[in-house]
Amino acid sequence: MTNDILTHRSDISNALSPTSLPVDRELDMLSLRPGKLTEYIGQREVVETLNIAIEAAHLREEPLDHILFHGPPGLGKTTLAHIIANEMGGQLTVTSGPALDKRGDLLGILTHLQAGDILFVDEIHRIPKVVEEFLYPAMEDFAVDFVFDKGIHARSHRFRLKRFTLVGATTRVGLLSAPLRDRFGIFRNLDFYSKDDLVKITERSASLLEMPIDPDGAAELSMRSRGTPRIVNRLLKRVRDFAQVRADGQINRETVAAALDLEGVDSQGLTVLDRRYLRTIIEFYQGGPVGIEAVAATLQEETDTLVDVVEPYLLKIGMIMRTSSGRKASEAAYRHLGIKAQGRLFDRG
Ligand code: ADE
Repeated sequence: MTNDILTHRSDISNALSPTSLPVDRELDMLSLRPGKLTEYIGQREVVETLNIAIEAAHLREEPLDHILFHGPPGLGKTTLAHIIANEMGGQLTVTSGPALDKRGDLLGILTHLQAGDILFVDEIHRIPKVVEEFLYPAMEDFAVDFVFDKGIHARSHRFRLKRFTLVGATTRVGLLSAPLRDRFGIFRNLDFYSKDDLVKITERSASLLEMPIDPDGAAELSMRSRGTPRIVNRLLKRVRDFAQVRADGQINRETVAAALDLEGVDSQGLTVLDRRYLRTIIEFYQGGPVGIEAVAATLQEETDTLVDVVEPYLLKIGMIMRTSSGRKASEAAYRHLGIKAQGRLFDRG
């Protein structure tokens, strides 16, 4: 058994973490964000839904319906909220579920919104229940009821709001309550990007960063980006540094591979944490099935990190399976890690 599982706690706030980090909000990274739907690569059905809804709202001179985006981190939920605000000509206000810990916080934000403005609430599944209930009339009737004082002195006042659009984002749509879910008119899932779309995103970002990258280099970087544009953009910067210092600025398959090996990202885009997760299931739990809590305890990682960040991509590329009795490693996982599956029979479905 490798010590790797227990002793190398991964730093998940590195270039390979799909979750948003301060580095993503630096100016050169923000400049890579598409500002219009016509510049947006991939997620074709989501883009088409938004094109139609935005054009219809313009024709009727009405605000957009409330929109919910769900899916793994790094796939464009925040970028789409910025684009929607641009296309609608409204101001964007950005907040998140955990930041709204009192009703007063939300009231302050809502009463400052103008007609046609966009309120983006990231991690909307983490809004406290009392704040969420306050959001229902705001979304449905564009009004909020605020209660002053307590007991027999309690008075309620209804504040009228301007017609805004709420754009919610969540990595865990299953945790949203039915009343909240039902108040969104548009409900779209963002999935991992195809290899072709990632190549196009790599080439677009490289050109904006004035980095000459050859087609094989772009293909290699796309292969290793976990289907996630946010990771493409972060890795491009690491590759640029590597190429400048070690390879005369040449960005081709060899320099991309060497730079990314150094970052701990392998030929299939798996990170240190992905590999530790797979090794835990295979070596500690004989390939599974094993419950997620047991895997998290062995790895000393948060269950939520594994469920939201690690597992979606491993499921997508068929390295693991989720069964009613727990997680199982697939034959592909054994092969990828170069581990023999002694006497193990795999389900082929
Ligand atoms: N940069 C990050 N995501 C992108 C996307 N979907 N299209 C174009 N550029 C991007």
